Amino acid sequence: MKEIDKDNLPKHLAIIMDGNGRWAKKQGMLRAFGHENGTKSVKVTVENCAKLGIEFLTLYAFSTENWNRPKMEVETLMKLLIGALKKELKTLQDNNIRLNAIGNIDSLPNSVKKELQEVILKTENNTRMTLTLALSYGARDEIINAVKNISEKVKNNIISTDAIDESIINQHLYTHNMPDVDLVIRTSGEHRISNFLLWQIAYAEFYFTEVLWPDFNEEELNKALISYQKRERRFGKTSEQIR
Ligand code: FPP
Repeated sequence: MKEIDKDNLPKHLAIIMDGNGRWAKKQGMLRAFGHENGTKSVKVTVENCAKLGIEFLTLYAFSTENWNRPKMEVETLMKLLIGALKKELKTLQDNNIRLNAIGNIDSLPNSVKKELQEVILKTENNTRMTLTLALSYGARDEIINAVKNISEKVKNNIISTDAIDESIINQHLYTHNMPDVDLVIRTSGEHRISNFLLWQIAYAEFYFTEVLWPDFNEEELNKALISYQKRERRFGKTSEQIR
């Protein structure tokens, strides 16, 4: 396989981890088994991204819409999350990875919040890669939240309406300290964005694969990155201007 060019990596990679349920069903197992195995792919992918030199990795772990799943499945996902946070703090420290979370974090169970806050605090000075978990995350929710906060500042004369620009919007999103997304990967053959980082993907490249998330490994990540590196990102300009 072609080598990855370390000088042309996406600075911000975002992944929609999809297909855990189908992966489990294919083997006659319960959906929880798929999520458990999906957690293994999370670990491998986080380590590989850090090793390669990707600076920002954002994983769609739980959407605002996922609250509508059966109560048992939601509980399983929360338990897996707590377990992974407890178990992988050492991996994050060993790899110099900072943990961050975006979404309506207040809506998560206290047990998750506690573990999350602890790992975020303990890894806050790590510098190699920022791993962001999107939890109880919805892009529309994020935008509504930003509009409310900006409106409040306009009302209190902190910001003037004329001053509202892209930078002001960026500063009020959950992702205020992160660059725009360069590459979105979605597994499991679905070709949709499902309310993920709608503002931040304005100029992102997309890579869709049939592979189900629990089967996503180093080779699949490399395929996605090589595909990204073949693309010409024009940001609205012509090819000639880019070259
Ligand atoms: C999508 O598969 C996956 C999720 C909704 C959750 C992703 C969660 C994990 C990988 C495990 C825990 C996460 C961390 C960060 C440790 P699906 O259930 O929608 O699959 P399906 O479309 O085949 O039903």
